[in-house]
Amino acid sequence: MKKIYQIGAKKFELDQTKAEAAFAAKKVILGRDTMTFNLLPLKYQWAYDLYRTMKANHWEPEDIPMGKDIEQWNDPGFLSEVERWIIMMGVGYFSAAEGIVGDNIQHVIRELMTAPELKLVLGRHAHEENIHADSLLYMISSLGINPHECEAMFEDVETIRKKNEFVTNISRDLRRDLDLTKLENKQLLARNMFVFGQCMEGTQFYGLFGMILSLYRQNKFPGIGQMFRYTLRDESNHIELLRSLLMELIEENPEIWTPEFKEDLREQMRTAVKLEKEFISDCLPVNSLGLRAEDFLQYIDFIADRRLEGVGLERLSEGVTNPLPWLAEMMDIQKEQNFFEGRVTEYQKSSALDAVDDDDL
Ligand SMILES: [Fe+2]
Ligand SMILES: [Fe+2]
Repeated sequence: MKKIYQIGAKKFELDQTKAEAAFAAKKVILGRDTMTFNLLPLKYQWAYDLYRTMKANHWEPEDIPMGKDIEQWNDPGFLSEVERWIIMMGVGYFSAAEGIVGDNIQHVIRELMTAPELKLVLGRHAHEENIHADSLLYMISSLGINPHECEAMFEDVETIRKKNEFVTNISRDLRRDLDLTKLENKQLLARNMFVFGQCMEGTQFYGLFGMILSLYRQNKFPGIGQMFRYTLRDESNHIELLRSLLMELIEENPEIWTPEFKEDLREQMRTAVKLEKEFISDCLPVNSLGLRAEDFLQYIDFIADRRLEGVGLERLSEGVTNPLPWLAEMMDIQKEQNFFEGRVTEYQKSSALDAVDDDDL
């Protein structure tokens, strides 16, 4: 089927059938090899919708005032030793972790995708990791933490080193031309999506999220807490993005999803939980006001099971309840008014004006 446009003496023929064949060849991996990056017609509508949601949540670290945090950090009587240490562990772990995720998204997952709308949302994901990494830089420089000490924590705090090594090993395996027609390589990619989305961003980020936001609830570190609330909201979109991507990959390549492979992923989660619990014990060697180590350890079991169930895998524990129900509410930022001078609302308004109505696509 062809449509002909006759403009003056010139005639243009547009081949609808060929375009429809191109659309049918859109796939998560091994799809049509094209450099034209044609988003429309969308095959993965959810990916475009998520891109829009992520874009509407845009924030910048420098918009968040740090005056109160600096005052508290410099007041020797205000904070306990453990509270200071939690902040040190927060900047020490996340300074590396945010970059590791962003780099893996950009150079592994996004590289291997062939559908443009998936590349679009993954590009936004990588950008948000840059914002998170930048927010750590902003926290470190505002408080006057020695950046060499922060760098030293990547190596010298064993539980940080082990958490980073766990994920970088999964990423390193894919840093080459990968023949995705081979089942073993498809499984490497699926494992990468699972480990980064569900084990790291979905589980191993939550020990510190819980601790820092517990301090924030006690009016300690309002600026840092605010940045972590924004980060937590972004992370929930990243977890959902990598979950949906994994599900699409498996749907298009069902041979990946063998009983052995499912068990392998549960084993990855088991390792992630073990590493996170050791890390929590380093963050909170003694209980602090309103922060009990056992609550955070239980929360990790709870959240890990939710991540497993989210991708259709059996949980690791039985009947673990959520000891930190308030943590989910911390993401609910949009309802708040007066939030750093309403800038988020402004971003959302302007992006809503730019947006195309979903029904038009
Ligand atoms: Fe992040
Ligand atoms: Fe993330």
